Amino acid sequence: MKSEEIRKRFLKFFEERGHTIVSSSSLVPDDPSVLLTTAGMQQFKPYYVGKADPMRDFGSRNTASAQKCFRTSDIDEVGDQTHLTFFEMLGNFSFGGYFKKEAIRWAYEFIVNELGVSRDRLTVTIFAGDPSAGSGQVIPEDKESYSIWHKEIGLPESRIKKHGRQDNFWGPTGNEGPCGPTTEIYVDGVEIWNLVFNEYYCKADKTLEKLPSPGVDTGMGLERLAVMLQGAGNVFETDLFHPLISKLREVAPKLPYETQPDQPERILRILADHLRASIFLIADGVRPSNKEAGYILRRLLRRILVYGIQYDIHADLFPMAVDFVKYNYGDWYPEIKNTKEILTVMLEEKTKFEKALALGVKEIEKYESISAKDAFYIYETFGLPWELLKELVPAKVKNLAKEAFEEEFKKHQEISRAGLEKKFGGHGLILDTGELKASTPEEVEIVTRLHTATHLLQAALRKVLGPEVKQMGSDITAERTRFDFSFNRKLTDEEIKKVEDLVNEAIQKDLPVSYQELPIAEAKKTKALYFFKEKYPEQVKVYSMGEFSKEFCGGPHVTNTLRVGKFKIAKQEAVGSGIRRIRGVVE
Ligand code: ALA
Repeated sequence: MKSEEIRKRFLKFFEERGHTIVSSSSLVPDDPSVLLTTAGMQQFKPYYVGKADPMRDFGSRNTASAQKCFRTSDIDEVGDQTHLTFFEMLGNFSFGGYFKKEAIRWAYEFIVNELGVSRDRLTVTIFAGDPSAGSGQVIPEDKESYSIWHKEIGLPESRIKKHGRQDNFWGPTGNEGPCGPTTEIYVDGVEIWNLVFNEYYCKADKTLEKLPSPGVDTGMGLERLAVMLQGAGNVFETDLFHPLISKLREVAPKLPYETQPDQPERILRILADHLRASIFLIADGVRPSNKEAGYILRRLLRRILVYGIQYDIHADLFPMAVDFVKYNYGDWYPEIKNTKEILTVMLEEKTKFEKALALGVKEIEKYESISAKDAFYIYETFGLPWELLKELVPAKVKNLAKEAFEEEFKKHQEISRAGLEKKFGGHGLILDTGELKASTPEEVEIVTRLHTATHLLQAALRKVLGPEVKQMGSDITAERTRFDFSFNRKLTDEEIKKVEDLVNEAIQKDLPVSYQELPIAEAKKTKALYFFKEKYPEQVKVYSMGEFSKEFCGGPHVTNTLRVGKFKIAKQEAVGSGIRRIRGVVE
C-alpha cells in the first residue's frame, strides 16, 4: 500500500465516522512555548481547553489530520533504521465529543479491518496510574481502557501491559496544556499508534486540573505504518524515501565502503532525512540563523554540506532533493512546490558555510601538527569539523585519534549548560557550548562578551535582590543573552536600573577575568556559584571577575571586563512560577 493510499484511507475512515478533515498546520507553531510542531494535537490545543469552538470552526467536535511534525529530540539517533527528524503523523481528535470507547474501538477496527492486520499481532499498553504525581496528587490507573481492550475487544490479559507516567501519560507540549493517560497499540512488538485521553490540564507549575470536557488525541506515524504495510526492512526502504536514497547512493560513490563498511548506509540515511526535513522547514518559513528553529535548520544543512565535502559528492544534492520532495509530497503539502525560494535559501546557506570554512582553512595553515585541543579550537571557532580536517590536512592530523577529539568535545559539552539544542550532534556552528552559539568569528566575539556580561548580571542580581536568585538556565546568541533565574516577582524599574548600573560599574573597573582549574570538591569550597542542574566533570574551571563574580564555567570569556562594552537589560518576563527571565544586550 503506497503511503499516499495510507493517508487517504486513514482520513476517509475517520471522515465516515463524523470527523472533519483538517489540513496539516505549519511546522512553526502559533504556540510560542514550543519550537516546532511535534504532534498533530498542537494546532488543536485551544479546542481542548474551551478557548475555541470546534462546532464553529469545523462543524464537528471531531477532526482528523495528516500532520507535518519535527522532533529535535531524536536527531542524534538519525542514521539508524528508525529515527527521523521530520515525519508525518496521522491523527484523529475529539474535543468534548467521543471518548475512550469509540477511540479504542475505531483504532482497532482501522488496523484490523481496514488495514487487514491480524489481531494476533497486536499488543497494547495502558496507564498504570501515578500514586505520587506531585503536590499530593494521585492520578488513577486507566481501568476503563483496560476493560475496553479486554472485555469489549476481547484482547487477552497477557497482551495488555500496564506502564507508568514515563510511557503512558502524554503532555503537555510546551510549558502547559492538555494532558492525560494514553493507550498504545503495538503490531509485532512495534509501537504504531498512541491514543491520548486528555482528561487534565497540566499547569506551568506541573499541577493537574480536570478539564471541563475530556478530549481524544491520537497519533500514528505514517512512516512506521508504511514500513509495516509495504513489507519494507526500514523507513528508508519505503516509498517515502526509497527513490531519494537510491539517487543519493548513485551520486555518492566515494562513501567509505571499504574502510568503514557500517558508515555508508548511515550517511545516506542522514542525508535523506536532513534533506527532506530542511525542505519542509524552509517551506514553512524557517530560515537558517543562530537561534531556535533557524538554528536547527542551519545544523541540518551544514551537516549535509560537510558530508558533501568529506565524501567528494559533486552532484547538487539540494536541487535533487527539492525535486524529489516536490514530486512525492507536493499533492499533500502544496507549500513545498515553491521550489525556487526553497533552493535559494539552501544555496545561500551553502555560500555562508563555505566562507566560514575558508577562514578555518587559513587558520590550519599556521599549525605544524594539530592536537585534539587545537582541533577542538578550530572546530569551535571556524566550524571545521574533525572529519574535514582529516580530509583537508591528513598529514597534520595523523597523530590525532577521533576519540581524543571526541573526548575534548565531551569535556566541553559537560561544562556547557543544558540548552534546548544540546542534544544536537554538533555540526555546523562555529561555536556551540550548549549555552553559547555563534556561526561567524564576529559572532564568537559578541557571544563571548555577552557571556562575561551574564556572569556580571548574575552577581549583580544577587547583590540587589538577595541570594535566593539562582541561575535556572541561560542561552546566548549574537543578538542577546537570555538568563533565567529563580525569583518570585517582577523586578521594579528601580531594581532593573540598579542591576544594570552595578554591571556597568564592574565593566568600567576593567576587572581581570581569570580562572583556576580545580577538582570539583575543592571548587565547591571556593563559594563560587554553580548551576545545580548541571552535571560537572571531575575537574572544573572557576572563573573570577575581580571580587565581583565567581562561577563554575567552561568559558569562553573576554580577558578584562572593559571589553564587554555597555550592558543593557532589554526585557524582563516570567517563564513559569517563580522563574524570571532577563534578556540583556551589549553595545
Ligand atoms: N499526541 C500524541 C503523540 O504525539 C498522540 O504521540
